[in-house]
Amino acid sequence: MLPSADKSISHRAVMLASLAEGESRIHNFLEGEDCLATMRAFSQMGIGIERTAPGELLVCGKGLGGLVQPEKELYLANSGTTMRLMLGILAGQPFIATLTGDESLSRRPMKRVTDPLRKMGAKIQGPEDANFPPLTIRGGKLKGIQFSSEVASAQVKSAVLLAGLFAKGPTQVKEPLPSRDHTERMMELFGANFRKEGKVSVVQRTEKLTPREIRIPGDISSAAFFIVAACLVPDSEVVIKEVGLNPTRTGILDVLKEMGASIALENVREEWEPVGDLRVRSSNLQAVKLTKEKIPSLIDELPVLMVACALARGKSEIRGAEELRVKESDRIRAMCENLGRLGAEAEELPDGCVIRGKEGFRGGKVSSFGDHRVAMSMAVAGLRSEDGAEIAESDCVNISYPSFFKDLESL
Ligand code: S3P
Repeated sequence: MLPSADKSISHRAVMLASLAEGESRIHNFLEGEDCLATMRAFSQMGIGIERTAPGELLVCGKGLGGLVQPEKELYLANSGTTMRLMLGILAGQPFIATLTGDESLSRRPMKRVTDPLRKMGAKIQGPEDANFPPLTIRGGKLKGIQFSSEVASAQVKSAVLLAGLFAKGPTQVKEPLPSRDHTERMMELFGANFRKEGKVSVVQRTEKLTPREIRIPGDISSAAFFIVAACLVPDSEVVIKEVGLNPTRTGILDVLKEMGASIALENVREEWEPVGDLRVRSSNLQAVKLTKEKIPSLIDELPVLMVACALARGKSEIRGAEELRVKESDRIRAMCENLGRLGAEAEELPDGCVIRGKEGFRGGKVSSFGDHRVAMSMAVAGLRSEDGAEIAESDCVNISYPSFFKDLESL
């Protein structure tokens, strides 16, 4: 099977292609609601984006100075990635724009991004000192900063690096633990003035980005639902093809292997992002202990990993994962509550959870909490529930994986 295209990379592809000078082609673009919000926002700022076939985009970039002031506010729906990265790009634009989102996005902390961008010279207003949307940003003459992020967040890092393309003087970003590096790879691919100095990313004002033709790999965060499902459902063997294997994203594979999963990598090739196929067979999983060092490399896979822990032998512990509380939902609470409703034993901690594994679940009614990854994780849990899992508000899977239920059924 092929999982849906990578969400993080799809956003960045549209962003960089919009800022490049000329036509970029994007193959295997993720047509989920989050990435469509990014597309819409750039269209509102004057970028021509044509969908030439399903998943195929032709983006007519207008250069780093080519965006125009949007006539209306930019509504970014549920997409935290769009809002945070877009703030970085808008910080460099000589106009005003207002960014809004749905109820979930309106509760997500933005100060982590608006603080450094203000230091660079952007003017940003919004509730609680620009910590929450709606945010109004007036970009302008930026200066480079040396920024040491408190959170290991690719969105924060990316916002500052993108603003750095427009700033006078170098912009340096350091993070406490390595987060996904798609922005850095894509900046290099499009010819930005970017370099890595040890653990520090450095970007300088860039005059021109070169358009590209790129293929988006499959999303390991979407593949994760099938990886865990194949581990958990007896007598399974599933081959998941064309999965992005960027080492900043593959923590889920390390941890599942440590738990005893049978996962083989095949056809691995190094393109601008590494890609390969995964062959997964059912296995008896053992409990695991996760600490904060591992968290950034599997941050979005933690909900489904919690399902795996709830069916593994022994007591698992996940710590250092307090970032989960400020995702599309409070994923610690949402998952512990849902697992409990199925008859599993999952106890909340401020920064994670303790889970005692069982042979199977009873089943029952759960909620997605409007969170796509919670919905998909509970679908995986349903596969090992006697009475199944009935998931309320499950259509939120469209945010990152519109064909999720179809693909799951096909397996
Ligand atoms: C993302 C970074 C992560 C991740 C999110 C996508 C990105 O968020 O959870 O789904 O594309 O940069 P943080 O940067 O907040 O950790």
